[in-house]
Amino acid sequence: MKMRPKVIINAAMSVDGKIALRGGRRIKISSEEDFCRVHQLRNRVDAILVGINTVLKDDPRLTVKEKFVKNPKNPVRVILDSKLRIPSNARVLDNKAPTIVITTESAGKREINAEIIRCGKHHVDLRCALEKLYRRGIKSILVEGGGTIIYSFLKEKLVDELWIFVGSIVIGGGAPTLAEGMGASEEEDVILLKLLKCEIIEGGIVLQYGVLYD
Ligand SMILES: NC(=O)c1ccc[n+]([C@@H]2O[C@H](COP(=O)([O-])OP(=O)(O)OC[C@H]3O[C@@H](n4cnc5c(N)ncnc54)[C@H](OP(=O)(O)O)[C@@H]3O)[C@@H](O)[C@H]2O)c1
Repeated sequence: MKMRPKVIINAAMSVDGKIALRGGRRIKISSEEDFCRVHQLRNRVDAILVGINTVLKDDPRLTVKEKFVKNPKNPVRVILDSKLRIPSNARVLDNKAPTIVITTESAGKREINAEIIRCGKHHVDLRCALEKLYRRGIKSILVEGGGTIIYSFLKEKLVDELWIFVGSIVIGGGAPTLAEGMGASEEEDVILLKLLKCEIIEGGIVLQYGVLYD
C-alpha cells in the first residue's frame, strides 16, 4: 500500500481477555493511572478510531480530558461505520473535536455533524481508509476498539504497536474479547507479537507489543 499513518492499538482487558461485560455492556477496567496513560497517548496522535459498535454500546466522547493532560489538543475522531448507522446524537458528533465517519459506497446519504468518507463497496476497506486519512494529514492513529475492529487491523497487517492494560479482574463467560472476528483455525494464521515492555501500575499491568508480520 502507499503511505499510511502509524497505527497504535490500545485497549483494556480483564485477566481472561474480555473488554466488556457479557452482552457488550461497558465496564471500567482501567485504573486512574491507566486512564492518565491513555489520555496522554490520545494527546500524542493525530486521530482516535473506533468501530460503530463501540459508539452504539458505549457512546464515548473520544476526547482528551484536561484532568489528565494540560491544554489537550483533541485529535480527529474516526468512526468505521459501513452502513452509516451512527445516531445523530452520538457524543462523537458533538463539536468538541472534528469527526470523520468512514462508510461505504452502498450506504445511503445522510446529513450528520461530521465529514463522511466512502471506502469500499459494502464493508469499509481499511487500506483505502488509512490512505485517505494519511492524505488529510493524519500521520498517527490510536485504534481503541472494539474487538472486531482490533482483529481486522491485526489481520490485515496494519498495526505497528499494541498497548494492553490487563486489569486485575475476571469477567468470564462469552463477553467480548480483545480480538473478535473469525480468529485463526490454523497455527500459521495466528498473529505473532513481540513483547517490548511490561509495567505494573495501579490496578494491573501495562503490556506493550510490536507485531511480527512476515
Ligand atoms: N475495554 C476496552 O478497551 C474497550 C474499548 C472499546 C470498546 N470496547 C467494547 O467493545 C465492544 C464493541 O466491540 P465490537 O467488536 O462489538 O465492535 P467494534 O469493533 O466497535 O465495531 C465493529 C463494527 O465496525 C464496523 N466495521 C466497519 N468497517 C470494519 C472493518 N473493516 N472491520 C471490522 N469492522 C468494521 C462493522 O459494522 P458495520 O458493518 O455496520 O460497519 C463492525 O460490526 C463494546 O462492548 C465495548 O464496550 C472495549
